[in-house]
Order: sequence, then structure tokens, then C-alpha cells
Amino acid sequence: MSAGRAFITTPIYYVNDRPHIGHTYTTTLCDVWARATRLMGRETFFLTGTDEHGQKVEKSAREAGVSPQKLADTNAAEFRRVMDMMEFSHDDFIRTTEPRHMTQVQALVGKLAELGVVYLGEFEGWYDEGQEEYHTETRARELDYKSPVSGRPLVRFKEQNYYFRLSAFQQRLEEFYSRHPDFVQPEGRFNEVKGRLREGLQDVPVTRTNFSWGIPFPGDPKHVIYVWIDALINYVSALGLAKSVNGAQLGPGAHLPEVQDAPAPAAAELAAQVQALHQSRGVLWPADLHVVGKEILWFHAVIWPAMLMALELEPPRQIHAHSFWIRDGQKMSKSMGNFLDLAAIEAFIARYGLDAWRWYMATQGPLQATDADFRAAHFHEVYTAELVNLVGNCASRVGAMIAKYCDGRMPADTGDASQWVTRCAEATAQWRRAIEALDLTAAARAGLDLLRAVDAFIHQTEPFKLAKDPANSPQVHSILAQCAQCVRVAGLLLAPFLPTKMDELARGFGEATPSAVTGRGCCEDNFAARIEYGRIAVGTPIAKLALFPRLDAPKAA
Ligand code: MSP
Repeated sequence: MSAGRAFITTPIYYVNDRPHIGHTYTTTLCDVWARATRLMGRETFFLTGTDEHGQKVEKSAREAGVSPQKLADTNAAEFRRVMDMMEFSHDDFIRTTEPRHMTQVQALVGKLAELGVVYLGEFEGWYDEGQEEYHTETRARELDYKSPVSGRPLVRFKEQNYYFRLSAFQQRLEEFYSRHPDFVQPEGRFNEVKGRLREGLQDVPVTRTNFSWGIPFPGDPKHVIYVWIDALINYVSALGLAKSVNGAQLGPGAHLPEVQDAPAPAAAELAAQVQALHQSRGVLWPADLHVVGKEILWFHAVIWPAMLMALELEPPRQIHAHSFWIRDGQKMSKSMGNFLDLAAIEAFIARYGLDAWRWYMATQGPLQATDADFRAAHFHEVYTAELVNLVGNCASRVGAMIAKYCDGRMPADTGDASQWVTRCAEATAQWRRAIEALDLTAAARAGLDLLRAVDAFIHQTEPFKLAKDPANSPQVHSILAQCAQCVRVAGLLLAPFLPTKMDELARGFGEATPSAVTGRGCCEDNFAARIEYGRIAVGTPIAKLALFPRLDAPKAA
């Protein structure tokens, strides 16, 4: 991971759907990373938003009997509401129907046309309507002419379109990949991309003409810009980056449709908006991390870097493609009724709490190359074993013993704490490496293992037995002081996963301003000092906490 400011993104979500586990999962991963990175002291910008154009949205709107803009407004508001409900710490929420985005899409696509990498041609091939994705004849045959995602038949297509000369970027992409062996994670997914690349690249359409819900192509407005080209640009339009592209004309907005029930802002106003974005955020490019699902990796790992290369912008530093949640061993699907929709997610949160939901998502999810099975019984087991019995219990027993044997105040340590100084430093180093690699399970484990060591220490030294003889008081105090210092450190390492509960823990263990470090927009200014063992001063009040209530197991379905 590079130093300096950090930039992480989620995909932008289609507004023809209501938020579900896929959306909240990807966003949770980014949120944990953003909070951890802020905690480490990097100013971090976390971007999410909604993808609002395209045939799918137009069709859903028609079926619902509303305008596409109306549907987009309603569902984008629902995405925002859910993101607030889930207390994500994103710094911006971009909508592709916003003039600040559309004007930059036109500028950048116009620039690609001027450079000759976008040209007018005829396309014949196969189209996956659900995914809004084109396939060549070879690929369609491999797929048995069916969508790899929905299983529905691909549709034969012949259109005059503008194309992006993707084929011209084959060699540059190959060279870029060999210079950046970690560009795509996990490695197996990168190998799949490289394998497909070796089969050869075909040019891809950048416009459509058979529907109108999109950004008009500059200079030929009967064409609208293909939704994927429009959507990928969000990662740079949120930063006002069209300003950095030499000769990109931030158009007069002449062809911008009226958006969000308001007339398009005047050209000068838009240009000023983009300029302001560019000034404050332009330095954030390239993004450190685009987190995406495996089914949209090709767009991010191949088409997007090639577009950026054409515009002489740097590709992102890394793309992490996670796999899918399945449920009770089966693919989730709306038709089977086993889909983890918003209502189901809200029911888990109501029962176990938001932090517990985040915990399960981030530590048990399909972050690597295999799908993960969501089972209510497993959720409960993990909650009980890790949050109730380990995190909650360790903090509460240390607090309770300090209440009982030390009048509720941090005791003095007259013993030798050197093993714990080393142990905490090692846990922090492991955690840091794991966060940098987006290995959230390992990052969580670093905090958990520290608490396991504290539990083992209590088990072995038995301060509750020693306390029976007042002569042992200095030893009891030392043991409990060492435990408390370690619990505070572990709490900080777990804070990006469990922000609310670990905030409570930090306050209970003497931290003055715990929440300021992990929330939106700010970052810790001295992580190295803050995470050090030994920061709780003697005499500090220590609370007896009850962080995670023990709950009955769910009834079998
Ligand atoms: N609009 C495009 C992305 C454009 S980015 C420039 C898109 N939108 S989406 O709404 O379909 O995104 C869904 C996200 O949810 C993807 O990251 C996808 O991988 C994720 N998931 C959808 N179902 C999922 C599971 N069952 N499990 C985990 N995540 C999955 O694609």
C-alpha cells in the first residue's frame, strides 16, 4: 500500500433493484478497509453510488409505469437510506444522472473519439440483457449462448455503434499486468483474466441506439453512451478528473437531458463544480482499490485500464474481485425465495446488532476465490463463539475483576510486561499487513488472538484465586493491568469491524476520543503511539461492560 491519501471504491449499484446482500456485502468490505486505513493515519476517501442509466433501468421504469428518472430517484434514495442505516463511512455517493458526472462522461468519451480510439462501426454479436454485456461469437459459444449470471438466452444483435478500440490495447495491458503482478486479487481470478486476454481482444461498443435512457454521445445524440462506459467513469468523475485530461472539453451540456426534475445547470456552473472537485480530490487518483464482484471483473480489469491508458491516466492500483454469497448451499435467487433481501438483513440486524452483521459479512464472506455459504445457524455460532464468548467475555471479565479487586480503577503494574509489549506489537503488525492485503479474516484474527492470549493468561495465573490472600495484591494488580492494556489494543484492532461496540470498549478502558478515529472524513494523527501497549494511565476508571448479549439459537427453518 502506498503512503499518502487513500482512495477506495465500491461498484456503483444498479437502481433497477432494491438493495440486497450483494450491495451491502461489497460496501461493508470497503467500509472496514476505509476505517482501518483512516485509523492507520491515511486520509481516506471512500466512494460509492448508483448506476442509473441503461436499458435495464429503462425497462424496469416502463414496467412500473414511471419515468426512468423517477425510478432512479426513488431507488437511489433507498440506497442512500440503507447506507445511512448501515452507518457506512463513505465520503461521497455519486449518481450517474448527476450533471457533474454526465458532463465529464461526455468530455472523456469525446476525447476518446478525438483520439481515434472511439470510431463508428457495425457490431454483430450476442448481448446479455440482464448484465448489459456484449459477448463475441467465441465467448457466446463457450457460454452455450446463455447468460453466465441469469442463465437466460443471449440475444443476437446487429447495430451501428461507436466502438472503443480495445483490440489496440492488448499488448499494453499484457505489459501492464506483468509489471503489476498483484493488480488483480485473488491471484486465481487474475489468471482467468490473463487467460481470456490471450484469446485476443475485440473492440467493444461504447454507444447504443435502440433506447434513449443514457448520456447522449457528444456530437451524435441519437446514440447514448453504453451504460458500462458511463458507469466506470464514476471513479474519476467523482474526483473531477476530466480536468486533468489534456484537451477534454467539459461540454456546454447542450445535450444533457433534464435531470432530477431540474433544468441542467449552466455550463459555467458545471465547469466550476468540476474544477472544485478536481482541486480537492484530483490528487486521489489512481485509486488504491476497486472492490468488485467476480462477475464484473472483466470490465474493471480490462476495459477500464485500457480506457484510462487511452486517456493517459494511470490505471487503479488494485482490483479485488470477491466471490458470491450462496445460501444454505444453494445459489441465491429471487425466484427460489432464498434471497437475502433487505428485509432479511434488517431482521438479522434487529436480532444481533449492526456490528455483529458487519462481523459476519467481513470475516466469513466470499472475499477469496470461493463462494461462502450464509447459514443462520452458522451466523449464530460465530456470533456466540467470537463476539459473546471471546470479545465480550474477555472485556467483561477483566473489567469485573478490576471492579472487584482494584476499586474499578486501572491498577499499577509492578511486574514485567515485556512479553505483552512484544505480543501487541506483533498483533498490530499482522493486522496492518492483513488490512493492506484486504484479508479481513486475518486482520480480525490478529485482534481475536490477542484476546485469546489474555484469556489463556487469566486461566493460567488465576488472579481470582490469588486475590484471596491480600499479600498477593501487587501481583493481582499487575496481571489485571496487563490484561486491560491488551484488551484496549485488541479493541482498537477490531474497531473497523465493530465500530460501535469497540467505541464503547475504548471509552470503558480510558480512551478520551475513540470514535473520531474511524469515522468519515478524519484520520488518526498518531497511530503508532495510539496503538502502543501501556497507554492506560494508573487510576483511570475501567468499566464493567456487557458488549454482546448471549442469545438463544435460532429455530431450525
Ligand atoms: N452497476 C454495475 C457495477 C458498475 S461499477 C462501475 C453492477 N451493479 S450491481 O448492482 O449489479 O452490483 C452488484 C454488486 O453486488 C456487485 O459487486 C456484485 O458482485 C455484488 N453481488 C450481487 N450478488 C451477490 C452475492 N450473492 N454475493 C456477493 N455479492 C454479489 O454490477
